[in-house]
Amino acid sequence: MNDATASRRRRRPRAVGREFASRPLPVVASQARTRIRRLVAIISWTVLVTASLLGCSQSGEQEHPGKAVYERYCYACHQAGIADAPKLGDREAWAARLAKPREELLENIKRGMTPGMPPRGGCPSCTDEALETALDYIVLKAE
Ligand code: HEC
Repeated sequence: MNDATASRRRRRPRAVGREFASRPLPVVASQARTRIRRLVAIISWTVLVTASLLGCSQSGEQEHPGKAVYERYCYACHQAGIADAPKLGDREAWAARLAKPREELLENIKRGMTPGMPPRGGCPSCTDEALETALDYIVLKAE
């Protein structure tokens, strides 16, 4: 190999590289790029949806439907026992009350009990069903 061929060999890859870089991307390459982008979008979408579905089913299994109502409206008094309200989870305090028929308990929630317990537990917009699930939650915690 003489000097001339060696330098030509050395130069060629550089020349090819420059030429390639300055040329617009071949159509095939840009199609491949679009495909990859689409694939990445689909994969991230799938991961997101799966993650949110998993999250929902987990919280659905763990959370009692009445918990949200309780925490929003009943918590204020029943958590700390304000105004002599029976405390959540206090079995003794709830034992006598929960011995009453369920209809009577629900009636007392809806009407309220003077002086401490406000009508509908302080949630006039709550449906009867919502109040019932809150009662279920209280009952569950008193078991
Ligand atoms: C402002 C305070 C307060 C809020 C808010 C409140 N309670 Fe009460 N609750 C009381 C008090 C005080 C009593 C005890 C009443 C009595 O025996 O005179 C009581 C009693 C009860 C009882 C027992 C009823 C009975 O027949 O002995 C239930 C059940 C009950 N509450 C459910 C709820 C639910 C469900 C909510 C929320 C939707 C709620 N309370 C919100 C203060 C409150």
